[in-house]
Amino acid sequence: MRLFGSMEIKDNQLYIGGISSKELVEKHGSPLYVMDEALISKNMETFKAAFKSDRFQTEVVYASKAFLTTGMCQIVDRHGLSMDVVSGGELFTVKSAGFPMEKVHMHGNNKTWEELEMCLDYGIGEIIVDNRDELDKLERVCREKGKKINVLLRVNPGIEAHTHEYIQTSTYSSKFGESIFDENIKDIIKKFIAAEHVELKGFHCHIGSQIFDEKPFFAAMDTMLKFIKQMKDEAGLDTTVLNLGGGFGVYYFDGDDAVDFEKFCKEMIKDLESKLDEYEIDLDKVIIEPGRSIVANAGTTLYTVGGTKVTYSGKKYVFVDGGMTDNIRPALYQAEYEGVIANRINEKTEDLVTVAGKCCESGDLLLRDVYLQEAKEGDILAISTTGAYNYSMASNYNRIRKPAVVFVKDGESKVAVKRESYEDLIRNDLKLY
Ligand SMILES: Cc1ncc(COP(=O)(O)O)c(C=O)c1O
Repeated sequence: MRLFGSMEIKDNQLYIGGISSKELVEKHGSPLYVMDEALISKNMETFKAAFKSDRFQTEVVYASKAFLTTGMCQIVDRHGLSMDVVSGGELFTVKSAGFPMEKVHMHGNNKTWEELEMCLDYGIGEIIVDNRDELDKLERVCREKGKKINVLLRVNPGIEAHTHEYIQTSTYSSKFGESIFDENIKDIIKKFIAAEHVELKGFHCHIGSQIFDEKPFFAAMDTMLKFIKQMKDEAGLDTTVLNLGGGFGVYYFDGDDAVDFEKFCKEMIKDLESKLDEYEIDLDKVIIEPGRSIVANAGTTLYTVGGTKVTYSGKKYVFVDGGMTDNIRPALYQAEYEGVIANRINEKTEDLVTVAGKCCESGDLLLRDVYLQEAKEGDILAISTTGAYNYSMASNYNRIRKPAVVFVKDGESKVAVKRESYEDLIRNDLKLY
């Protein structure tokens, strides 16, 4: 298993943030999401330092869907990043944490009336409007409240990025944004410009997530700049802001060629600056929205092994006390991870096993056909790179309680989210009779 940030091996054990896996599980129970605070901070600072230009302002917006808790909002604020939210729940969390509202950007392809009202009541910085109908809805809410709001229009630049390749297509059928190839795009933009209560500041695009190949990001940027120029010339647009989204791929398992985001950001800025000259346009601000690349490698989930089983066909399972409820990604996307027996980490990995969770689903598998140290009841299994889209996608399927989240740093562990109790599970249930 590749080690990240403060992970180290001492006394035959995996340590994170200076604390052994055994001590973490003894103190906080299992399963346990462990977040390496120093690595999160380092990643944020790296983005901030690398994504800078003398030519235009830059803004790094953390995509909170990757991982969001009240404590995480505090860390994002400490490092001066902005925040991207996509729901009333994320917005409420961020507001309750005391995060500066003017640094919040609201996304979503189907914002409800209630969510739009919250955006205005809370005084957030900017709404990324998904489509022409949403503009009408937003105008109405603004009129009723007598308020104005800055917006970006999300557009689809027709670049479909997969992890190792991309295609350009004008018929791309994503549910997000208005296509730049739409025959009415000029009229849509004119409508935004004419809108009384919204101030169109620019455009947003996001071409996908967990993308390793850097070419589609550059292609999207180039397409967006050409589009901005075209809209300036043909629709009288005076946009000043370009948001290029997130999606930078990270290492999960052997073979993943993670984006070196420091190098990538610097190259992106350089390319942007030269393209602005080439296309004779200016931008006030360029924004990126990394989520996964800030938190994924900083997270490790610790499980307790309940036992093992060898099936009639000879397949060996290791059973753990979590599963698809705390990490849906293997079942949802066939995502692959690396794992170790964290309390005997130096032992040989000679046992070919599949690690299964405890849910009533055959697909509840966390690691498929991997070599591990021989696992026994009571061992701690650690799965790395679970910081993004694990806790934020957790569920209570089978009425399994969501694990606790702890942040570790310099030998100290702080609970960021308490483990759910059985009482929590029935808190909103009402008896019918
Ligand atoms: C609009 C938008 N911005 C940013 C992100 C963050 O992507 P990632 O976590 O891959 O960096 C997403 C994720 O899907 C997104 O939809």
